[in-house]
Amino acid sequence: MKKNILITGANGFLGSYYVNFLCEENFIIAVDKKFSNLKKIKKKNLILLKCDLSKESSLKKLIKILNDKKYIIDVLINNAAIDAKPNNGRLNLTQKNWNQEFNVSLFASTFLSYVIGSKMAKKKSGCIINIGSDLSIIAPNQNIYKTSFKNYLKPPSYSIIKHGTVGMTKYFASLFAKNLVRVNAISPGPIFNDNPKQLIKELKKVIPMKRMGKKEDLKSVIEFLINDQSSYLTGQNIVMDGGRTII
Ligand SMILES: NC(=O)c1ccc[n+]([C@@H]2O[C@H](COP(=O)([O-])OP(=O)(O)OC[C@H]3O[C@@H](n4cnc5c(N)ncnc54)[C@H](O)[C@@H]3O)[C@@H](O)[C@H]2O)c1
Repeated sequence: MKKNILITGANGFLGSYYVNFLCEENFIIAVDKKFSNLKKIKKKNLILLKCDLSKESSLKKLIKILNDKKYIIDVLINNAAIDAKPNNGRLNLTQKNWNQEFNVSLFASTFLSYVIGSKMAKKKSGCIINIGSDLSIIAPNQNIYKTSFKNYLKPPSYSIIKHGTVGMTKYFASLFAKNLVRVNAISPGPIFNDNPKQLIKELKKVIPMKRMGKKEDLKSVIEFLINDQSSYLTGQNIVMDGGRTII
């Protein structure tokens, strides 16, 4: 494969998993605001670039570093997001939280897709993958969260951002299609990460395959999208959720 891959939110639960398997064969630029998980991986083909994705100035600095170092990005994975903070069943709607969440997920992904995608367009090849969620398709089942986390209300920002991610995917897929830059999304259902037993039990009831996703389930989808042989696939949202959104 051997591609230059930039991953945002690379230090997180799923981002660090992507880094781990992708750096076996590729050159990885890991972008995050912290590197507690990735620091232990010592590989020449992995570089860590600190960036606060919620800040335009930090995004511009990131682009400057990429330009100065003459890094050519073949694959951009817009993975970073902020998970909602716990609440007591009431929405705490503040512009500060809203802006932070939207900036990290939608502004940063849009900015990077445009700037890096435009460079890909010039060389007539490239691949952008945006990470959605089953909440890109359906509304949250509040009963599941209420039962599992004692009076928790999943906020609308996550749903709006994840639906928006699919819209952004189609926008850039159409913008860059003639330049052979492919833009797709992956929308995973909940991925197992030592979750509370009650949550797992509630989720199993609504997932036809009767299990949560495993991070390993995502490997083949990422590899499939990155592969040059998927050259006619663009603007799609691959929903990988054990059937959760089909019932
Ligand atoms: N974990 C799941 O079950 C699941 C399911 C469906 C979709 N997703 C999506 O997958 C993606 C990754 O999820 P995850 O579970 O690994 O999340 P995570 O919280 O473990 O990782 C998110 C990463 O984003 C980084 N980040 C947050 N704000 C930042 C900022 N201002 N600047 C730079 N980096 C910042 C964090 O430091 C963190 O490393 C997200 O888009 C999430 O919505 C996750």
